[in-house]
Amino acid sequence: MTGPSERTVTFVTGNAHKLAEAAALLSPCGITVRQADLGYPEVQADSLEEVALAGIAWCMEKLKKPCLLEDAGLFIKALGGFPGPYSRYVHETIGNAGIMRLMEGAQDRSAVFRSVIAYHDGTEPHLFIGETLGHISTRLEGTRGFGYDPLFVPTGYDLTFGQMEQQEKNAVSHRGMSLRAFVSFLSERRC
Ligand code: IMP
Repeated sequence: MTGPSERTVTFVTGNAHKLAEAAALLSPCGITVRQADLGYPEVQADSLEEVALAGIAWCMEKLKKPCLLEDAGLFIKALGGFPGPYSRYVHETIGNAGIMRLMEGAQDRSAVFRSVIAYHDGTEPHLFIGETLGHISTRLEGTRGFGYDPLFVPTGYDLTFGQMEQQEKNAVSHRGMSLRAFVSFLSERRC
């Protein structure tokens, strides 16, 4: 699918922070982001890719037009990749304080934040992946952003995502990366 309709993208999300991050990155590329807060079901699966693909199939069925969603997860090495695809549930239950408790005494604090964008073009789904390496901070720091932002420090920085301006976070974040891959895909398709 090509043409002007690709200039407006429907982002299925109820998360205002994700929406703002996407708009900040996509608007300068001439792509308007429109929110659809559908509350799609997140299936219980072992990978973000599976969750995203199931979600976008459901959204496409509902909306009957091209749309995009994003599923993210924090994978902590010392915890065997936990919470990974269960990041939302874990955040809603034990929260950041619970993660800090689980990490008490851990020598290796390395972690990866992953983002999977699923975009359905009306014919088929496409996935775009972003990954940011980093570590779990020893203290919760920063009041910006959302979710696990106060405990994730991207490699090469002394700041948590929660201490970064939105633009700075977008430049290094998992979501920034998957969104840029999505922008490249759209621009290649227009050629
Ligand atoms: P979901 O992609 O909305 O399912 O996110 C899973 C969990 O990770 C939720 O608890 C989110 O708050 C959290 N999360 C997703 N993206 C980010 C991020 O960029 N920074 C911090 N937490 C995030």
